[in-house]
This record gives sequence, structure tokens and C-alpha cells, in this order.
Amino acid sequence: MNSLSKYIPIITATALMASCQRLSNQSKQISQSFQPNQLWLDTDGKHINAHGGGVIYANGKYYWFGEKRGSSASEGVSVYSSKNLYQWKNEGLALAKVDDPQSDIAHGGLMERPKVVYNAQTKQYVLWFHVELPKQGYKAARVGVAVSDEVTGPYQFVKSFRPNGNMSRDMTIYVDDDQQAYLVYSSRENYDLRIAKLQPDYLDVTTQDTLLFSQHREAPAIFKKERLYYLITSGCTGWDANKASLHVASNLFGPWQMIKDPMKGPLAEKTFGGQSTFILPVANKKDTFIFLADTWKPKNLIDSRYIWLPITFEAQLPVIQWSDSWRLEE
Ligand code: GAL
Repeated sequence: MNSLSKYIPIITATALMASCQRLSNQSKQISQSFQPNQLWLDTDGKHINAHGGGVIYANGKYYWFGEKRGSSASEGVSVYSSKNLYQWKNEGLALAKVDDPQSDIAHGGLMERPKVVYNAQTKQYVLWFHVELPKQGYKAARVGVAVSDEVTGPYQFVKSFRPNGNMSRDMTIYVDDDQQAYLVYSSRENYDLRIAKLQPDYLDVTTQDTLLFSQHREAPAIFKKERLYYLITSGCTGWDANKASLHVASNLFGPWQMIKDPMKGPLAEKTFGGQSTFILPVANKKDTFIFLADTWKPKNLIDSRYIWLPITFEAQLPVIQWSDSWRLEE
């Protein structure tokens, strides 16, 4: 053995230990605080793959649904579970793509911005998402519905359609205190933002479907505090970040009043590099909300990052202040 070869295993072992330590520190850090725009590892040590997502709280746990992405492909709707919002366990695919090329959710099409809501009457979980058909880009502009008795699925695909005949791209679902649910969606080539009340079983829209405003907005995220509804949207620049806006209303069907951009801090005028997707009311903590956004990496969508930031209030209006790392108050 020459003198160098004696050292190689030691160097390798040291390097290995250092990299294990780094990994464990990283996973400890990531799992105990929110670190917007950083890698966010799940309990298997893999970057969470749940983009354009939404979160529900059921049976004492949070469930995060999102777009499972390859480098560009849409691979279905993924679901992760967590008790504390920091550490997430991969629960697999809630809704997979299907092999039948005739299906609206065949491979090659898109499933974006999935949102799950629970219907207390039917005792079913209902998944809504943006559907694009294979080989048509964003032309189909439809919304899709799937149901399951179990929160993690597998969800059964019901149908995809244009709500009341209108184009529907970016969307979200909102359930009000009285359990009435609503679809908020970008329509008419994203120039219009509309709202449609859902049927009592949440499986379809009603004809109560109204234009909210025509300001070329998308990526709607909505919440209610006391008697006011707050709606955050982005502009329409594809995967590129732009300026967010905030609208306020005392009635979901309007009128909606445009208020200034609620983001504060570095790159606030570009939503910190991200695009809104959801506002999460924290369970059992009154008036505690987290703003969720995606920082898209279009060259490798799977690597897209998450921005989770607390919503605070100044003079009754929401403020979203950047923070590199933060925790919910215990
Ligand atoms: C954005 C939209 C994303 C995705 C993207 C594709 O405007 O919010 O969900 O559809 O366009 O370019």
C-alpha cells in the first residue's frame, strides 16, 4: 500500500460523515421551520413534489395536494401528510394519469392547481383541478373533478368540463362557513376572473356564475377573516413572477375592491419570485393564515420551490412580509 492509498478511505469516510451531517442538519432545519424558496425535503429526504397545491386539515392531520411534476411533464396529483406543517410524508398519488388516450386525464395532458375539499353531507373528499387535454397546450381550458371516501385517495375521476361553457384555467375552490362551496376561475383567455357556486354535493357548478372583474389576473387564492373575503391573484406572465394584487369584498359575488399589493420585503414587487396558489387557515388557531406560492423553475419543474409566509394584518388589511426562515408561534 503506498502512502496515499492509506489515506483515501479515511478521507472518503470523513467526507461521507460530513455530507451525512450536512444532510441531517439540512433535513432538521427544513423540517422545523418554513424556509421559503429553499429545497423542502419530505420524510424520505426528497424535495416535495406538490406544486400549485392546496392543503386541507382532516382527522388531526394536514394533507397537501399538488402537481406531481417531472422535468416538464405533469404526472398526476400527489398528496403528502403532516401533523405540524414542517415535516411531510409522501402518501403517493391521489390521482394518477391514465393510459387510455381517450381519457380527459390521459398521459400527455395537464393536471394543474389541485384543491381538495370535504363534503360533510356526502362524506366524500372532492378534488378539483385544471385540466388540459393531451397535445393541445392550454387550449382546452377545462376544470376536472374527482372523488374519494379516503382523504389520500385514490380519487375516482368524474369528469372534466368548461363551467357554464366558460374557459377555465387557473382556479381554486373555496368553502364558506355555511359549507357552500365556490369555484373561482380565470376565464376568457385569463382576462376575466369568475366565480361559480357549486352544487350541494360539490361535484359540479350551478348556473350561479358571475364575473368578478376583468383585470387579466390568475392564480387565485382566497380566505375570509371576520366578515371580509380577501383574494390574492397574480398577473398573467406564464411561469415568470409578477406583481401580486389583493382584492377585498364583503360578498363573494362582489363588488371586489382592488387594494395595494400585500407583499413586503426584497423582491416584493415580483411576489418574491413566486406565484400565489393557496391560503391555508391554520387549524385550531383563530385568524392564523399562511400564504402559499410557487417559485416555478420551467426548465426543470420538479425543482420548483415553495414560498410559505405568514399573513399579518395592518389596519385590517393583510400584509405578507418576506422571511428567510420562520415558525408558527407555539
Ligand atoms: C401560469 C399558471 C401556471 C401554469 C403556467 C404555464 O400562468 O399560473 O399554473 O399554467 O402558467 O405557463
